[in-house]
Amino acid sequence: MRVETAAQASYIVAALLFILALAGLSKHETAKVGNTFGIAGMTVALAATVALAIELKISTTGLILLAAAMLIGAAIGLHRAGKVEMTGMPELIALLHSFVGLAAVLVGWNGYLHVEAHLDGTEAAILSGQDMLGIHSAEVVIGIFIGAVTFTGSIVAFLKLSARIKSSPLVLPGKNLLNVTALVAFVALTGWFVVAPQLWLLIVVTLVALLLGWHLVASIGGGDMPVVVSMLNSYSGWAAAAAGFLLENDLLIVTGALVGSSGAYLSYIMCRAMNRSFLSVIVGGFGIEAGPAGDQDLGDHRETTAETVAELLTAADSVIITPGYGMAVAQAQHGVAELTKVLRERGVKVRFGIHPVAGRLPGHMNVLLAEARVPYDIVCEMDEINDDFPGTSVVLVIGANDTVNPAATEDPTSPIAGMPVLTVWEADDVIVFKRSMASGYAGVQNPLFFRDNCSMLFGDAKERVDAILTAVTALAPVRH
Ligand code: TAP
Repeated sequence: MRVETAAQASYIVAALLFILALAGLSKHETAKVGNTFGIAGMTVALAATVALAIELKISTTGLILLAAAMLIGAAIGLHRAGKVEMTGMPELIALLHSFVGLAAVLVGWNGYLHVEAHLDGTEAAILSGQDMLGIHSAEVVIGIFIGAVTFTGSIVAFLKLSARIKSSPLVLPGKNLLNVTALVAFVALTGWFVVAPQLWLLIVVTLVALLLGWHLVASIGGGDMPVVVSMLNSYSGWAAAAAGFLLENDLLIVTGALVGSSGAYLSYIMCRAMNRSFLSVIVGGFGIEAGPAGDQDLGDHRETTAETVAELLTAADSVIITPGYGMAVAQAQHGVAELTKVLRERGVKVRFGIHPVAGRLPGHMNVLLAEARVPYDIVCEMDEINDDFPGTSVVLVIGANDTVNPAATEDPTSPIAGMPVLTVWEADDVIVFKRSMASGYAGVQNPLFFRDNCSMLFGDAKERVDAILTAVTALAPVRH
């Protein structure tokens, strides 16, 4: 009994530590402390859960299985977290969400089979009389539904983010109707299952939810993927909370609700930043129809060299650098930071323009630039810098594509129409660093590349930046 009380107290401490972790993670300066709170909370929660299991006289086999699962899980987790590149973070997160979803499905099924196996007719009738069985059945079916949607949705997100499948939206005929039908079926089957729990109903709900999760995320285009990742984060939280109700574990309920609501709020903020309707994204691209394939003829592009760019830069008054995913892939941030320093020493005003979804996860570019020690006061958010492009001498678009695509503002039929973008084309000269004419993450052609004031500098961004750096250093002396 004493262990149970201690475990409950530990759960409250862990829940508080998780809240402090969230508060800490919301600001750059306190993020590290926030992370430490999170680790401490999880350690307390794990220790309390294991102690509780031992107190509840778990069998030796159970204990061995528990220890083995924890050891194997911890080893894989440490290995993956140590190895993962920052560019691979969103897909790792998506994969982890799928585990939460799967766990909720298994907990739900276990909840049903356990009651089936342990309640004889009389007990079930008593529980049913107290409405307890109905509540239990509702918890089972809702937990399984949210878990299964999260499971397949996260797997599709993982496959899209890791480029194992195409990121363009799947457009099945009557796709909105399919989603609505699945939701209506879920509500009807839940009602049926609560009144008369039967195995086949649970199987159907599981299958409907698995298909719905897959279809919801498959219907969302690459440009909306950041929102999808945070939305799945939210779903995984609600799945964990549902599992918490079934297992009567308060900490799981609190933690699940924290993850669920913070993920939903983040999705909402991101939708606002990208001018997307929150509802349209959460219900799987509702109303978003596929745009043109992006293979229309936009004319010819011009190519330039590192030496010409160096001349342009040294003659410039002001330069804005807009980095994107390609800078992260090339790991060009250190060269970019050095080039910034060299240009500033030569009297050129250099600033950075950061799009909220540049790269593959929120804050991706800010972290890379901070790591390369770019002064924080010259790193500007999109809204701060967008009015300054007219009158800027040169813009260096380093490995960015969708985030600088004029089609978002000019072509209402584009799949990324309405998404705010960095209006780089308003500067005097634009240099785009990339390796080919391939499209960006959203799979949309970029008319910027064909504009008169735009030149392409092909090659790996790091190599190109280093070549420009050498040329700039040779060309112009430091201005004192
Ligand atoms: P993208 O539109 O993905 O474009 C990146 C560009 O970098 C590509 O055109 C690619 O062209 C180039 N590139 C790749 N490797 C390179 C290298 N080694 N050297 C030089 N260039 C290289 O990136 P973005 O502008 O940052 O936009 C982000 C996109 O990702 C948006 O669509 C966004 O919605 C999505 N997304 C964002 C997030 C978050 S939260 N930030 C999460 C998931 C998805 P080449 O292949 O021709 O080199």
